[in-house]
Amino acid sequence: MIDSYGRNINYLRISVTDLCNLRCKYCMPEKGIKKACHDEILRFEEIEEIVKKFVSLGVNKIRITGGEPLVRTDIVTLIKRLSKLNGIDEIAMTTNGTLLKKHAKALKEAGLTRVNISLDTLNDEKYKTITKGGTLKDVLEGISEAKKVNLTPIKLNVVLIKDFNEDEIVDFVNLTKDEEIDVRFIELMPIGQVKQWSLNRYLSNETVLKKVPELIQIKSKDISSPAKYYRLPEGKGNIGLINPISCKFCSNCNRIRLTSDGKLKACLHSNNEIDIKGLIRDGKDITEVLYNIVKHKPKEHGLEDGEYIEREMTAIGG
Ligand code: 5AD
Ligand code: SF4
Repeated sequence: MIDSYGRNINYLRISVTDLCNLRCKYCMPEKGIKKACHDEILRFEEIEEIVKKFVSLGVNKIRITGGEPLVRTDIVTLIKRLSKLNGIDEIAMTTNGTLLKKHAKALKEAGLTRVNISLDTLNDEKYKTITKGGTLKDVLEGISEAKKVNLTPIKLNVVLIKDFNEDEIVDFVNLTKDEEIDVRFIELMPIGQVKQWSLNRYLSNETVLKKVPELIQIKSKDISSPAKYYRLPEGKGNIGLINPISCKFCSNCNRIRLTSDGKLKACLHSNNEIDIKGLIRDGKDITEVLYNIVKHKPKEHGLEDGEYIEREMTAIGG
């Protein structure tokens, strides 16, 4: 599907749950989120049906996100079902990694291609603070297990947070020295109920280039990736800078999002959503709707103009 700005939409991100076993300060509101009723959440067969339709229209890359996708019961079964569909080249997952030690092997066997793991600090205490109670060791063991079963190349997502992790930029960059791991620094976005917290702690990705001036910019293999890529002179892995705020990557955006309660979003930063759960449940054909949402995918987002997303990040899936 080609949208009105010539972008080839071939990538569907599916949030399978709003829930998460962590409470990251920039993501989860203090009081947690309202748990959706069972019936509000898309069932596996409904997700499968939507994916089939998207694939028939040209989508060939899928990402499973949350909240935390691994807290959704039986998630391995969903991966198994999706990986059997013809026409999908890649099924990736974005996870906080804490449950990967347990699930990595089964996920790989079910057909998952690779994982992006969110990790904002390499320090036990700081991890506990930013996630409000998480255990760093769980993530580190999850990463080891993911490597062992070849859910690779692994990408670490590090959200840059002022007065929290800028002193660890060099440590994160150094992880790419000896290993083929990508470390991607993401600028903090003001989203949902915790947007004020995030606005106060925004740090531009320029900070990374200032702290590690030896980074060399490289050409990305994937032009639709929102990251600009760099490398250490002798590095094995890449450093990605994702600048949703200071630099727009919308012109190469190839994605559509499906929320866990069955809404399609053409842009992360837009409050525009189209409900397709009802249509699917009524047995209606969704082809027209999919064409329409692609047609109306906005040219770019307007975050700098003071436009904020109301829906929580956990409900969109990053
Ligand atoms: N700003 C930037 N990144 C965020 N993430 C979640 N909330 C935000 C935010 N407000 C990241 C997570 C994860 C990915 C899904 O999105 O850390 O890496
Ligand atoms: Fe959970 Fe990810 Fe949100 Fe942290 S950022 S609370 S791990 S969904």
